[in-house]
Amino acid sequence: THQWRGVIEEYRALLDIPAGTPAITLREGGTPLVHSEWLSGLTDAEVWLKVEGDNPTGSFKDRGMTAAISVARHQGAEAVVCASTGNTSASMAAYAAKARLKPLVLVPEGKIAAGKMAQAIMHGARVIMVRGNFDDCLRLAKGLAEEYPVALVNSVNPVRLEGQKTAAFEIVDFLGDAPDFHLLPVGNAGNIAAYWLGYRQYADLGLASRRPVMRGFQAAGASPLVTGEPFPDPETKATAIRIGNPASWHLAVAARDESGGRFAAVSDEQILEAQRALASHDGVFVEPASAAGVAGMLAELEAGESYAGSSVVVTVTGHGLKDTVTALEGFASGGGSIVDTVVDAEVAAAARAAG
Ligand code: F0G
Repeated sequence: THQWRGVIEEYRALLDIPAGTPAITLREGGTPLVHSEWLSGLTDAEVWLKVEGDNPTGSFKDRGMTAAISVARHQGAEAVVCASTGNTSASMAAYAAKARLKPLVLVPEGKIAAGKMAQAIMHGARVIMVRGNFDDCLRLAKGLAEEYPVALVNSVNPVRLEGQKTAAFEIVDFLGDAPDFHLLPVGNAGNIAAYWLGYRQYADLGLASRRPVMRGFQAAGASPLVTGEPFPDPETKATAIRIGNPASWHLAVAARDESGGRFAAVSDEQILEAQRALASHDGVFVEPASAAGVAGMLAELEAGESYAGSSVVVTVTGHGLKDTVTALEGFASGGGSIVDTVVDAEVAAAARAAG
């Protein structure tokens, strides 16, 4: 009788969405904050992983999507559109199905992980592949929403951030206060903006005594917030964050500046290595982009930075099963061997093969 109700019903009084909006929910949120013995040991800090892959469609996008779809439905929309590197489209399609809205998805051709594409298709989305990158897709989605009766649910829709900020609430509710540091991957920059909204709100309400220092990590080949310039041709194996001109640029910079934080870049090799290490040390399998925060922390440690004595939350944004191809390519390129050992169906044979 005590099932988690989803982020709208759990936090409705703290969310800026129209009063009386019925919640379209798949019981998103309420994700685990997993203590990382591995990272805590490396840093001499208390390091927690906010495991957002445990959401209904396997990424943090569900928090914002329950809000955006609930409001769109309440306001009479019949169709919804988004541009996506994969997770937003998977989430939008699922919530649109639940709300009986027509989902239309724009994705960059050839740059979407198979699991995410399968989700969008299975949930009934019309998927359009665009010859271009995510930034092109977002321009098209905005254009379609301006000219046709279809509601845009990318994070330029402020309702998305209202839902996503609940992750910060959950962290403070669990830890009893905000952490000293919060690290996360950054692509279109909606998530870091949403976390900062949430942390600020809790501090303003006296529900937290402080706000964390925000550190955002981008893939080196798609790191406009690090260089300060848009990337016309973003490129990274972490396709979820293959974005050259983040929509929430100004909000992300404000989060950095108001928190005394920073943005930094990590290479694809560092990302894939962090992904493997997280899976093998902590039992948490995340998709490549989701490991950018952990990769950033490891790079900082190597550069002599210290987190000693502090509390740190690292958001891991999406599930590893979304993109097994890149994970196994990374495993192989990191020197791992994937051996198919086939034996006869006998204990002795299995024991011999197991060594
Ligand atoms: N991690 C994952 C797994 C993502 O899918 C995304 C964004 C991010 C991190 C970055 O979050 O954009 O709020 O800075 N994915 C979007 C999508 C762009 O279309 O699914 P952000």
